[in-house]
Amino acid sequence: MTIKKVGVLGCGLMGSGIAQVCATAGFDVTALEAEQKFLDKGFAGIDKSLAKFAEKPEKSGITPEKAKEIRGRLKGTLKKEDLADCDLIIEAIIENVEDKKKMYAALDGIVKKDAIFASNTSSISITELMTATQRPERFVGLHFFNPVPLMKLVEVVRTIATAPEVFETVFEFAGKLGKVPVRTSDKTGFIVNRLLVPYLLDAIRAYEEGVGSIADIDQAMKLGCGYPMGPFTLLDFVGLDTTYYITHVMFEEFKEARFASPPLLKRLVMAGWYGKKTGKGFYDWKDPANPAASF
Ligand code: 3HC
Repeated sequence: MTIKKVGVLGCGLMGSGIAQVCATAGFDVTALEAEQKFLDKGFAGIDKSLAKFAEKPEKSGITPEKAKEIRGRLKGTLKKEDLADCDLIIEAIIENVEDKKKMYAALDGIVKKDAIFASNTSSISITELMTATQRPERFVGLHFFNPVPLMKLVEVVRTIATAPEVFETVFEFAGKLGKVPVRTSDKTGFIVNRLLVPYLLDAIRAYEEGVGSIADIDQAMKLGCGYPMGPFTLLDFVGLDTTYYITHVMFEEFKEARFASPPLLKRLVMAGWYGKKTGKGFYDWKDPANPAASF
């Protein structure tokens, strides 16, 4: 089947990035949100990102005219019915199983029968989400990375029920977005979070044990391993609430101590220090160019 029109559920950090890369690749995109203010915020982020690319067209390939053209392919809506003729639905709403299942069940009766449903979830089982629909063979995971317009990787996730031709269609679609897709199966965390989350949690445990300061652990991993960000900067960037949620799902699945949340992560989440998005996490982000350790 050919994918022409894409529906994106949720226009937050991930949803808006996904909508942007789909429109940039030439697809018509409709983004669904629950309230106009969330759509406005998501589209403001897209405008900012496209403007950044358009500043350096020789590097990005996006001229100001092309940015306008991309923007013209993007629509926002508050009505599920506006997604009825989409060929592919990519869900990026809040990481909550019940909310996601409710959304999929509602859309299953609205969106055309041969459309493919995909979830951008980072840890929830694709198999569980698929059971909310009558189209298990047309259901996959499509996991993007933050910041979506820059990060090259997409994990394409198959369940035991995914039809091979559906998987290949979505795999090819990810390539058309200019991303590099990898194949993986529905095991919690897929490839990246399976390896990344224990590393991030170990960094917190190392700090708790007095191995080094937050800034020194970050510096060590950046300069010692050539990582673009140290673990604490990355934690603040991904969101501590998101990471904390992922640890629960992974610990529940594997029952291994390496996936369990360290006490400090829980304390930060209880305090509402979620990282960059709330202005404070392991770092205070008042001056984003020079973040200072929060404690
Ligand atoms: N849109 C367009 N352009 C953007 C942009 C955006 N959203 N964000 C940054 N840019 C541009 C900047 O303007 C800059 O352009 P220039 O080189 O022409 O001046 C360029 O991109 C590089 O940005 P910066 O100089 O600000 O910073 P970096 O060189 O450090 O790159 C980064 C930023 C790509 C985010 C890099 O730090 C990085 O790769 N960090 C690691 C991110 C990562 O690991 N993400 C995965 C998280 S895990 C996840 O998402 C999974 C989930 O399930 C938890």
